[in-house]
Amino acid sequence: MSDPATGNIYERAAARNATDAGEDTAPLAGPWTLRGVATEYTVVVPAHGRWLELVSWGPPGVAHGPSPASYTGPTPFLTAGDFAPVEYATDAVRPFTGADLVVETATGDRRISWRYQQAETDGGQLRVTFADPVTGLRAAHCYRIPAGTDVVERWVELTNTGDAPLRLARAGSAGFCVPTPHGARLSYQWGQWAQEFQLAHLDLGHGQFSIGSSQGVPGHSFVPWLAVQDRAEPDGPTWGVALAWTGSWQIVAEPDTGGLTRVRVGRRLVDGGLELPAGGGITLPVVAGAHSDAGLAGLARAWHRYQRQLAGDRLHRARPVLYNSWEATEFAVDADNQLALARIAAELGVETFVVDDGWFIGRHDDRGGLGDWTPDPVKFPAGFDAFIAQIRALDLTFGLWVEPESISPASRLYAEHPDWVYAIDDRPITPIRNQYLLDLGRPEAAEFVHSTLDGLLGRHDIGYLKWDFNRPRTEPGRPGAATRLDLDGAHVANLHRIYAALRRDHPHVTIEACAAGGARTDLAMAAHADVFWPSDNTGPLDRLAIQHGFLHANAPHLLSSWVTDAVGLFDQRPRSLAFRFVLAMAGVLGIGADIRHWTPRQRAEAASWIGRYKQIREVITHGEVHLIGGPDQPRCAVQYTAPDGDTVVVLAWHTGRLDGNGLLPSRPVRLPLRGLATDDTWRHGDDTYSGSHLTAVGLPVRWTADHDAELFVLHRA
Ligand code: DGJ
Repeated sequence: MSDPATGNIYERAAARNATDAGEDTAPLAGPWTLRGVATEYTVVVPAHGRWLELVSWGPPGVAHGPSPASYTGPTPFLTAGDFAPVEYATDAVRPFTGADLVVETATGDRRISWRYQQAETDGGQLRVTFADPVTGLRAAHCYRIPAGTDVVERWVELTNTGDAPLRLARAGSAGFCVPTPHGARLSYQWGQWAQEFQLAHLDLGHGQFSIGSSQGVPGHSFVPWLAVQDRAEPDGPTWGVALAWTGSWQIVAEPDTGGLTRVRVGRRLVDGGLELPAGGGITLPVVAGAHSDAGLAGLARAWHRYQRQLAGDRLHRARPVLYNSWEATEFAVDADNQLALARIAAELGVETFVVDDGWFIGRHDDRGGLGDWTPDPVKFPAGFDAFIAQIRALDLTFGLWVEPESISPASRLYAEHPDWVYAIDDRPITPIRNQYLLDLGRPEAAEFVHSTLDGLLGRHDIGYLKWDFNRPRTEPGRPGAATRLDLDGAHVANLHRIYAALRRDHPHVTIEACAAGGARTDLAMAAHADVFWPSDNTGPLDRLAIQHGFLHANAPHLLSSWVTDAVGLFDQRPRSLAFRFVLAMAGVLGIGADIRHWTPRQRAEAASWIGRYKQIREVITHGEVHLIGGPDQPRCAVQYTAPDGDTVVVLAWHTGRLDGNGLLPSRPVRLPLRGLATDDTWRHGDDTYSGSHLTAVGLPVRWTADHDAELFVLHRA
């Protein structure tokens, strides 16, 4: 039961402790415990009042006992702060082992050191404030565990109450401390275009591990997500961090020599430091920390529950089965070919038809058009609205691709507003995919992007928008700017503002976030968008690996996936149409193949899969996910258990050898299920199983050359 005044925060009477030397170590303030469903997070201000520190982070009740994180022993050649589990450290507190905040005064002095001021607990939020008497910098350390989750949200509000400007040379959002007495095992996701979300692990005994992006977008190279475990317990307690920031970022993990790994998370200040004028303030991005006792798969469930909360009411709209024309027609879009595709798509049971790229003037390839968002009258001779009406007459929602922050050098927009793009005075601009990037932090450019999208959504009958972003920022400059600007921060803030305005004014529109595949996924985008396009690689076995990583950090309602005819780039072994459908059903099902070339038999099979998907998609969207094995393991499946516990959906794929292909002695493969009550009975067709059997032995499946994927729907008897 939570305290009505403070929500889910509990302040306990401070225990009085004594060191061996008899020194009184009673805390100055706290401890405070924030409670989630199966997690608690406890912090305290130690007697010296110089920082806030972690007491414990783990399952309910974990704070009752000596802190696994605190340290008051010797620190030869280092300082006490270098070893303490400090929540948010300045460089005075952690001079050697990594600070979260580095502040410079006008004379270039560093070393902010602050003192505890006050704490407030209100509406489920904890705010603990520190102030630096020399500069007047105040820092409120803010915490919240959204109800129904195991995720602690943390952010810092900085205010310069002094009379001189300050400059933030480093402005992390938080430090997270994880006890790793046997060394840290880190899990992270790396990638590149067409190979995003590759889950990888490493043991880090000593030294630093650092991932991030300086591209003005989260990027393909790494996901702003990290999991930490003790090396001795890879399937046990697991802690994770993820950032809500759609620009450049950094995560650094570093174990100390005393068995604690500290993870710093926050923005990477690619434009130089942040100016904080006298009287000014800044709120740094939210960073979230999740905990599970059930390994990486349990941690994934904690992230899923949290992201479902971020989606709010929009989670409860059925995700439409869509058709996207990109792989079929690329830039060669016209009304006839799109309608031909749409008619077939409608027959298959598709609900939304998305024209991807190529629909606007000057867009015949990737060298032109961006910025001139007018439908091409040559491609739609009867008019764009007449075309949309024909799509709608097929009972399809109409969707449109846009890339509003990009601009082609050959566009009219660029001719009229060359100053709207990122550039460094007279230096050449680096094109990527033959395009430049609008400086969205400029109010005029932001207004252009907003009014373009608002206009398209207002003028035409559009129910789905795919918002793409195909190039990172290269030039950190705004021509003519008199002072150094936080271009990254301004771009991200306006991006989020435009999303919010569109959501407010066009609430029925579903928005898919894309950035040359999956280069723009972070917790902020998980809140603003409805679905992510994770990769341009739709080849089945490559996609399986991409989706496996994606689902560790993201909930299924965010996973857009198409059935196509593509072979993989990395693993080209052929797979059946069934494999491709079951794979795309793991999230939000779409079709991206050129279905004009599908045989009647393929179309009939597709219609059948789409029908089956519609029956299970609520379980996929809302169900509890259990990741079983993985693409490079003997078995590979995902289990979704419906919230009412009455239905279990299992999607399974065959990735390995065929074990005799039924001609030689072999027993069926078993897929052990998770989270089922042992004495329940489950029905699958004519077969029944106990929960105990499904857990201990597993669901039988016999793979053959013709049977490489399966969808199971089990009902509780
Ligand atoms: C990149 C996206 O990832 C693709 O899905 C497609 O929308 C193209 N851009 C269109 O140019």
